[in-house]
Amino acid sequence: MATVTPLFHISELAENSAKGLEVNQRKLFAVSSQGKVYLYENSCPHKGVPLEWLPDTFLDIEKQFIQCSTHGALFTIDQGLCIAGPCAGASLAPVACEIIDGQVCIRE
Ligand code: FES
Repeated sequence: MATVTPLFHISELAENSAKGLEVNQRKLFAVSSQGKVYLYENSCPHKGVPLEWLPDTFLDIEKQFIQCSTHGALFTIDQGLCIAGPCAGASLAPVACEIIDGQVCIRE
């Protein structure tokens, strides 16, 4: 049976920002964009390394794309699809999440 685990309150994630998370030793990150929250594994499909260069820094300077800090790959926020960089055409691994009573929750 699926377990629902609350991760953080939606108020802790401003629009157009991101947040690194560690859940049961899995590195994840959440992004808020256009009123929605997206959750992905924090692992670049190019080399399998974490994406951020500073805590909670996952977006490009214009906050249009998720950016890998190692070689600069850009990923769409809504689908995690790499549109530029060494892993173009590959995708971040999405993680199912939902908002329950204002809490962003992971369903495992
Ligand atoms: S490790 Fe992410 S682009 Fe190379």
